[in-house]
Amino acid sequence: MLSKRLQAISEFIPSKSKVIDVGADHALLDIYLTKEKDCECLATDISEKCLEKAKMNIQKYGVNVAVKVADGLKGIDVNDEIIVISGMGTKTILNIIPDNLNNDLIISSHHDLSLLRKEMHRKGYYIYNEKAVFDKRYYVIMHFKEGHKKTNYYVSPFLTSNKEYMNYLLQKYEKVFYNTKNKLEKIKVYLLIRKVKKFL
Ligand SMILES: C[S@@+](CC[C@H](N)C(=O)[O-])C[C@H]1O[C@@H](n2cnc3c(N)ncnc32)[C@H](O)[C@@H]1O
Repeated sequence: MLSKRLQAISEFIPSKSKVIDVGADHALLDIYLTKEKDCECLATDISEKCLEKAKMNIQKYGVNVAVKVADGLKGIDVNDEIIVISGMGTKTILNIIPDNLNNDLIISSHHDLSLLRKEMHRKGYYIYNEKAVFDKRYYVIMHFKEGHKKTNYYVSPFLTSNKEYMNYLLQKYEKVFYNTKNKLEKIKVYLLIRKVKKFL
């Protein structure tokens, strides 16, 4: 039922957790977590139309998942839930997350992962765990907690043992290197390429 990406996200969430899934869309993650891991989920979305789809799925699978139309966490009573935000771009995700929230956050952005790591650090969170999963393309799932711990924003120490992902990152940075005309940017990317190569 779940895609490899959503399955990987579900693995970050312990059984019996309380979960707020922001931008749940189809709510398939919440249905799975409720059914298979006995979680208590709130599926939210800014789009009423998406939540209609969610409600149909929830009914189809006969589970108890709460739904709410909301822009990010606005108007949502946040206590000790795990907050999941996945399948959006970094800027949208960053707009949703307030500074120094005392919750576990499971985040999977489609783009700009280095910006996500950097801005989350600035907001007062550190990466507790991170995983890359290939599901037609690479997706990275990050588990953040409140606090400060330095990390490398471009080559995450959690992903360096994943040789396939490092290979993908190398190709990505090599493409940027050959396409950029800016000398400073070229040097920066060259150093990143050297760093990634150390793990291959
Ligand atoms: C591509 S879907 C991802 C669905 C699901 N989270 C996943 O990972 O498969 C992105 C969803 O985020 C919702 N969304 C975008 N901005 C939002 C916001 N500020 N607050 C809540 N939901 C938002 C969209 O309406 C859409 O349903």
